[in-house]
Amino acid sequence: MIETSFAELEQRLGVSRRTFLKFCTGVAASLGLSTQQAMAMAEAVATHKQRPPVIWLHGQECTGPTESLLRSEQPTLDHLILDLISLDYHQTLDAGAGHHVEHIKAEAMKANKGKYLLVIEGSIPTKDGGIYCKVGGQTMLDATTEAAEHAAAIVAIGSCASWGGVPSGGSNPTGAVGAQAVLPDKTVLNIPGCPPNPSNFLATILYFVTYGKLPELDNKNRPKFAFGRLIHENCERRPHFDAGRFALEFGDEGHKKGYCLYKLGCKGPETYNNCPAIEFNNLGGGVWPIGVGHPCFGCSEDGVGFNKPLFSLADVKTHTPPNAFPLIEDRGQKSSGASAGAAALAGVAVGAAVGASAMAAKKVKEQDTGGDSNEA
Ligand code: SF4
Ligand code: F3S
Repeated sequence: MIETSFAELEQRLGVSRRTFLKFCTGVAASLGLSTQQAMAMAEAVATHKQRPPVIWLHGQECTGPTESLLRSEQPTLDHLILDLISLDYHQTLDAGAGHHVEHIKAEAMKANKGKYLLVIEGSIPTKDGGIYCKVGGQTMLDATTEAAEHAAAIVAIGSCASWGGVPSGGSNPTGAVGAQAVLPDKTVLNIPGCPPNPSNFLATILYFVTYGKLPELDNKNRPKFAFGRLIHENCERRPHFDAGRFALEFGDEGHKKGYCLYKLGCKGPETYNNCPAIEFNNLGGGVWPIGVGHPCFGCSEDGVGFNKPLFSLADVKTHTPPNAFPLIEDRGQKSSGASAGAAALAGVAVGAAVGASAMAAKKVKEQDTGGDSNEA
């Protein structure tokens, strides 16, 4: 039976059983689950036992989460998500429009009371009764509270839905807030990011489909498997930070050599996310902000991204490096992407944050107050 299901899965998703199992094992590892649990996930998908209906609402946003999800090059990811769930209402992807789809949404929610997954993308304006975002004559505020009432689980995808994001910046003219703020009596799982990593969404959905509940959350309702560590803890440039080697300007020697971007405003030291470990696009290849030479601006951290000026220095929360980092033997050489990636993964696996680099942090402080060379 399961063999037939896997054969069907191969056809449905266009991937081999081997690739799919490998993929599930990787997702399970990122969730901190065993190989056996990875098999349970694979089986849940292959046998299609549960396919939760999903109501997906869009508020104030740029559609970044949906765009990043659909453009992910990682084989199967977008197909897999769309195969895992029954996407009953999605304002960007619905082929239909107008009152017809609004009717379908109402019917889907009625027929699946207590069973559907509500995904919220974008912030919710609350000022003046929420009139600044309406679909089909209904405010996003009303659509959110209405859909949340009988949802089995609620996921806020992206920074705008998680805590207000871009629309809530500055003077916040529309009173934009995240979903949790308008649903105080519900648990809203937040997957912040601008855009959020589609792999984190997929892992959350896979977990929900397999176990019928949401994964463990931190104190900001983010899944711990993805947001349990600071970017700074697993960053491939961390050895440079610890050794006091910094880029001081875009394009300078330090920047060309792949030195730490702290002095260019990198917010990795105060931002929780797994970007260094899973990266974007193909689960590898160095495609993530710091990997391509840009400081992290804290897009997924409430109170950091869109709040702190880009070039302001981050608050360094951890001064002790993981012991899994490779040494940088040649001070003139950039750390290789491959070894850095391996170190980041090893850092996740080992889960260690030991060692002493208070001196490095001290050097950073010294340089903050006037140092102008690339090396401390
Ligand atoms: Fe990486 Fe930024 Fe930390 Fe430097 S400050 S090690 S670039 S996260
Ligand atoms: Fe965002 Fe920083 Fe990751 S800008 S994508 S949290 S590296």
